[in-house]
Amino acid sequence: MSAVTAPPLIELGAPVLGEPEKRALAEVIDTGWLTMGERVRRFEQAFAGVHRASDAVAVHSATAALQLSLAAFDIGPGDEVLVPSLSFVATASVVVHAGATPVFVDIEGSDRPHISVDDARTRITERTRAVIVMHYGGYRVDMPRWRALADEFGLCLFEDAAHAAGMAEQVGVLSDAASFSFFTNKNMTTAEGGMMLIRDDARRERARLLRAHGMTASTLDRDRGRAVGYDVVECGHNFRMDELRAAMGLVQIERLEGWNARRRALTETYRQALARELPEVTVPFDSTHPTTAHLLPALLPPGTDRPAVMAHMREARVQTSVHYPPIHQFDYYLRTLGGVSLPHTERFCRDELTLPLHPQLSTADVERVVRSLHQALAAGSHEHPRGETTT
Ligand SMILES: Cc1ncc(COP(=O)(O)O)c(C=O)c1O
Repeated sequence: MSAVTAPPLIELGAPVLGEPEKRALAEVIDTGWLTMGERVRRFEQAFAGVHRASDAVAVHSATAALQLSLAAFDIGPGDEVLVPSLSFVATASVVVHAGATPVFVDIEGSDRPHISVDDARTRITERTRAVIVMHYGGYRVDMPRWRALADEFGLCLFEDAAHAAGMAEQVGVLSDAASFSFFTNKNMTTAEGGMMLIRDDARRERARLLRAHGMTASTLDRDRGRAVGYDVVECGHNFRMDELRAAMGLVQIERLEGWNARRRALTETYRQALARELPEVTVPFDSTHPTTAHLLPALLPPGTDRPAVMAHMREARVQTSVHYPPIHQFDYYLRTLGGVSLPHTERFCRDELTLPLHPQLSTADVERVVRSLHQALAAGSHEHPRGETTT
């Protein structure tokens, strides 16, 4: 019997990590100062620079950044916040944590799965205070159109920019606050981590206070003799970033632009290979749409048994996932908010399959993914009753 060698696993996403990150982490350990300090400050300034903003606020996750945005603008009990159901659950859960009510809005359509301005309009009430838009997969939302709607109804406009690190044009520019993620699968990573851009200086300083218990001086300030004691002027949180994460962020941000360009090039390779080999499988947005190319979402032909396709591809050592199960159909949101019908979102979430995309993939890897999808679809959809999801 001859041994069969399994092909290498093609991962859905993979951080690029190496010696520079190891060195940066070791340097922090050598300094003996681990909690929020000068590296965090430098990382904030570097991130603001990439986004052509005057400043930024580093936190320990995008979830914390979103929560801080709502707090800095006093969104709370009695308020309604419009959110997409096609997102990671944090986009809605932060609204619940603020004591406000998320109101789910449909997407524009399967070829443009962004929160719909037209649908949002129909859901605005006298209690609506804010909207959170999300740059799905890194594809930029039409920010001028959302700013106009927010201004028409006097709403705060927040961006869930978890997928959009490095997108300087319009992202974090027209909204009241934008929240970015450095979770491990994002376009750059600090393991866990997040960043906020808030244009208004006073609100940004308020967010900074709320990030660290509303205290007027930090541990570093006291250690360095810049402050003796402190007062507490807001009821805040501990959403601080630490020096280890900031050190990684400072290394990663240098390479972000190159990685995003590589992701866009691979996306184009996917688009061409799918159009040639599998025209019944489509990729939303068109190839000119501004994007950080965080995800490669593909739409399977209606009626496909997606779990069977995923299981088939897993056997071929290709990871896939679904972005996302719709939030409004999760048990918690059904129980607490009741059902709502979002037909475009539901259709998209039924047919969507996320294919591998990260800067270390080769063109040959993309071709192998497309071939395995071809074989999975050709094999029919009934041989595997269950598939697996890789987040
Ligand atoms: C769209 C979206 N929003 C928010 C988050 C939350 O980010 P974090 O894990 O940094 O809290 C994520 C992360 O997965 C996300 O994809």
